[in-house]
Amino acid sequence: NVLILDFGSQYTQLIARRVRELNIFCEIFPYNHFPSDLSSFKAVILSGSPFSVRGEDAPHPDLSQIRGKMPLLAVCYGAQYLSHFSGGEVAPSNTREYGRANLSFIKENETFFEGVSQNSQVWMSHSDTIKNLPTNGVKLASTHDVENAAFKIEGESTYGIQFHPEVYHSTDGKQMLENFLVKIAEVPQNFTPNAFVEEMVAELKEKIQNDKVVLGLSGGVDSTVAAVLLHQAIGPNLHCIFVNNGLLRKNEFESVLHQYKDMGLNVKGVDASSRFLDELAGISDPETKRKTIGRVFIEVFDDESKISDDVKWLAQGTIYPDVIESVSVKGPSATIKSHHNVGGLPDFMKLKIVEPLRMLFKDEVRRVGATLGIDPALLGRHPFPGPGLSIRILGDITPEKVRILQEVDAVFIDGLKSWGLYDKVWQAGAILLPVNSVGVMGDERTYEKVVALRAVESTDGMTADWVHLPYDFLMKVSNDIINKVKGVNRVVYDISSKPPATIEWE
Ligand code: XMP
Repeated sequence: NVLILDFGSQYTQLIARRVRELNIFCEIFPYNHFPSDLSSFKAVILSGSPFSVRGEDAPHPDLSQIRGKMPLLAVCYGAQYLSHFSGGEVAPSNTREYGRANLSFIKENETFFEGVSQNSQVWMSHSDTIKNLPTNGVKLASTHDVENAAFKIEGESTYGIQFHPEVYHSTDGKQMLENFLVKIAEVPQNFTPNAFVEEMVAELKEKIQNDKVVLGLSGGVDSTVAAVLLHQAIGPNLHCIFVNNGLLRKNEFESVLHQYKDMGLNVKGVDASSRFLDELAGISDPETKRKTIGRVFIEVFDDESKISDDVKWLAQGTIYPDVIESVSVKGPSATIKSHHNVGGLPDFMKLKIVEPLRMLFKDEVRRVGATLGIDPALLGRHPFPGPGLSIRILGDITPEKVRILQEVDAVFIDGLKSWGLYDKVWQAGAILLPVNSVGVMGDERTYEKVVALRAVESTDGMTADWVHLPYDFLMKVSNDIINKVKGVNRVVYDISSKPPATIEWE
């Protein structure tokens, strides 16, 4: 187990991912809120930071239980922190050092740099530089512009590096992390999907005993994997609820429900389409749509979760990025929702929470899902927003508009699948625009709806590029949509990237 102390760097999650790729378990904690008992940790990594160690608001971690007592790797801000406050000197760089650099000097016979080639490319992102090393510091590497690019402290397993090994552009970064964690700190590489499943199932059994648990399935990867894990642990005591809000993809409710039942899950399908669509009638504002759907979902889920008095737990498919987000350095105060109005909460919110995936990244959830034998097609599904098609129907929502969009979306998604493009795209969907356009069909003038198609590449949805889908494919899909879907006479393709556009239109 490795402890990563976060100073608010944009790259902290990447450090954790690289460590996990080495089959080593790690956890991120804010630098000012980490466990006092560190006995389960075998090594510590300090992250970078947007702050300068010379600034008044600079983070000052208490490293008294760490420094010199266990292997420590300090990255960027971390390295500067170790230098500035332990006998060295940090000063503003002459030039802002950002981007690729090469290690022009590497000290020989250093375990930390084993297998790292001379001239290895590293990624720099800092505006301060370490002018003088800390007491007992030994220079291990330099670049053309950065004299003290890496150092160690004599007599300790403490290392400091100015560059970012976690960033993909640091070609040998992963090798350095492996050298530090495996060769220097001797951390075991035993965090695998199989080991996770085994440990988590045992932990869930122990925690939940014979209580009943409710879980809302969405058809997405996270809730499905969470359900299958819990099912392995407690069997039919897991009660899954899959709500049809009437805004899912075409046939999605029936087919996914069927799949869930085939997997042996104890699942109840609740068709609340009319209730959702009634409540949404006449609403055009995107945020009001989201709030309405959220409220109705809570009402429906609350009714359905009162299966018996033995229900003690609410299971959720929360994953690690959500957890990190809520405990980040930037906003520890905004973390946990204040449940001060407990009396007014729906009944299911008074349940204890169990989140079996809260320590996993998305790709790890997929691997755990594969280990559990979940259908690869289900694990590879594109993300789909909770409010569903409601935020892809611009303007107000009617059952007829939902029908049109479901048809269009189905032609598009089926097309992507049959052309072998589905897995190359991160997310795709269709948008129903609130305008009619003139067309001609046979000898008839038409005045019908316009739809937009959207397909993006992304890793996390934070940024996205539109996908250069083949013209032949777009031509075929456009033809199919206009010929097959009554009410649509024009198709356009969205060629905007995020930022400045967002993935969804609302
Ligand atoms: P945007 O439109 O913000 O979308 O670029 C980024 C990702 O988030 C999804 N998204 C949502 N997911 N509830 C959700 O569960 C929402 O209200 C919501 N809005 C956007 C979107 O599909 C994309 O994957």
